[in-house]
Amino acid sequence: MEKAILLESVSKKYDVGSSSLEVIKDLTFDVNENEFVCIVGPSGCGKTTLLRIISGLEPPSSGRVLVFGRPPDPKRQRFGVIFQEDSLLPWRTVLGNVEFGLEIQDQKEAEREKIAKTFLELVGLQGFENYYPHQISGGMKKRVAIARALAIDPDLILMDEPFADLDAQTRSFMQRELLNIWSKLNKTVLFITHNVEEAVFLAQRVVVLTKRPSKVKQIINIDLPYPRARLSPPFISYRERILTAFHEELEVT
Ligand SMILES: Nc1ncnc2c1ncn2[C@@H]1O[C@H](COP(=O)(O)OP(=O)(O)OP(=O)(O)O)[C@@H](O)[C@H]1O
Ligand SMILES: [Mg+2]
Repeated sequence: MEKAILLESVSKKYDVGSSSLEVIKDLTFDVNENEFVCIVGPSGCGKTTLLRIISGLEPPSSGRVLVFGRPPDPKRQRFGVIFQEDSLLPWRTVLGNVEFGLEIQDQKEAEREKIAKTFLELVGLQGFENYYPHQISGGMKKRVAIARALAIDPDLILMDEPFADLDAQTRSFMQRELLNIWSKLNKTVLFITHNVEEAVFLAQRVVVLTKRPSKVKQIINIDLPYPRARLSPPFISYRERILTAFHEELEVT
């Protein structure tokens, strides 16, 4: 089967002024179609940069990147990206925000509204169509962002620490929601997180990155059925294993 994402010896350097910063070095891994993969790695190791490279917003300095067999091209392929920072348009309603991606796709207005409403319902926001971002909670904003990303029927969903700012309860609610959506829609998801427990709860495979310049430190298959019990011994043992790998990469300064 064709890989959803294929990264081969990907490197990325940034030149700032006269100095150059090597962010990613020789990174190789792949993601299968319909797979849910989490990436964990220390702050500043290059996770967001990697996501930008996979979504075609930025070229790698060297190496090969293929998404469904082609170099990523946001104009030809559909990526549902959920950014690290809040990315709702404040002057648009909840419905207007979800319709945004569909406008770019030139969908007709009536069709747009229908699709947007379907996805708002999927994330449990029916009744909030006419609210503005400042009138809804942080968790609801994330759900709008998820609805917007899904509404365009993406080939690939890329999520950059989407639940990082949420309180523990909302976060675990959103995690369960996301797994429901994923199992319903059969999409490929690449999900970045700092939170090892979140990775073990969500992913079929967890890719642990090293500190900068980042490469793959370890890939762990999480061989547990869904929904996962966070307090079960195998869950805890996966969590400990990944935490150990992760902590080795945290720089003490
Ligand atoms: N456009 C850019 N120009 C120069 N340097 C950049 C640019 N974008 C990112 N960097 C640098 O690349 C490194 C990795 O940044 P990146 O945002 O990918 O890290 P991250 O792993 O997502 O961190 P965090 O977990 O804190 O979100 C940082 O040192 C950052 O300063
Ligand atoms: Mg980041």
